[in-house]
Amino acid sequence: MSTVKVKCPGTVANLVCGFDILGLALHEPADIMEVKLLDEPRVIIHNRDAYNLPTEPEKNVAGVVFLSVMERIGGHTGFEVTIEKHIKPGSGIGSSAASAAGAAVAANHLLGNIFTSDEVVQFAMNGEKLASGVKHADNIAPCILGGISLIRSIHPLDIVSIPSPDLYVTVIHPQIEVRTSDARQILKQQVLLKDAIRQWGNIAGLVTGFMKNDYDLIGRSLEDVIIEPVRSILIPGFDEVKRKCKEAGALGGGISGSGPSIFMLSKDDSTAKAVESVMQEVYNKIGIDYHTYVTMINKKGVEIVAGY
Ligand code: HSE
Repeated sequence: MSTVKVKCPGTVANLVCGFDILGLALHEPADIMEVKLLDEPRVIIHNRDAYNLPTEPEKNVAGVVFLSVMERIGGHTGFEVTIEKHIKPGSGIGSSAASAAGAAVAANHLLGNIFTSDEVVQFAMNGEKLASGVKHADNIAPCILGGISLIRSIHPLDIVSIPSPDLYVTVIHPQIEVRTSDARQILKQQVLLKDAIRQWGNIAGLVTGFMKNDYDLIGRSLEDVIIEPVRSILIPGFDEVKRKCKEAGALGGGISGSGPSIFMLSKDDSTAKAVESVMQEVYNKIGIDYHTYVTMINKKGVEIVAGY
């Protein structure tokens, strides 16, 4: 096989209280990438979308992932990729992670699956570093592995997949751009001990809630006293959306990744759709365009959809 087509899902990182350590994969939106093996050591990139992303491999998220794979294997292998992005860059739904993860999974597949899943995650993290300035795996890991991931550590890499009940995810993506690097720069570098105690209580509660199918515990634990108070000022209508979604029955939610998207978890489809209407009402009132998704946790992660 010399060509493979992969579907790379969007992801919600942080899951409110777990900054840089928790994330989940979504069914929608998802990017499509077609990757071809070359017998010369170069990377060729074609963008089939309107986002005008760079095609120089060193400046492109997928490109740097291919370059890191090529550096590891040596020889004359290269890659040609056609990227069809549906996850808008700067949306907070893991756009760069989808490109990075898709490149790493496709390359590994074409090379005969010579790398472990941890190595695939590590290759993909090079792309995330280009996009946000730091290596973090809370989008990459669930994008590749599917489901919910806990990144206990990145040095050394220690990723734990967390089982969960079926959960519905409603996402609103206001059509404004928040760059992850900017949203990271505004964060405070120190936290108060009382805030840290509250936060790690919530993280432990959230993971336990997922594992025990305890919806109330999940809802109570979706609280962030460290990052959200700083970042939410970048997102118009954030507090109102959150309050009204909970009134509509959502278990809870918050900023998706570094924003501007907002996500909410619900127990059932009808609540998730009611939550979508509430989100739309708030943004109609504010007068900012948006896209919404009502979807579920994607347990597969990056999927090989064709090979030839
Ligand atoms: N954990 C990262 C952040 C995710 O919040 O900056 C970025 O998508």
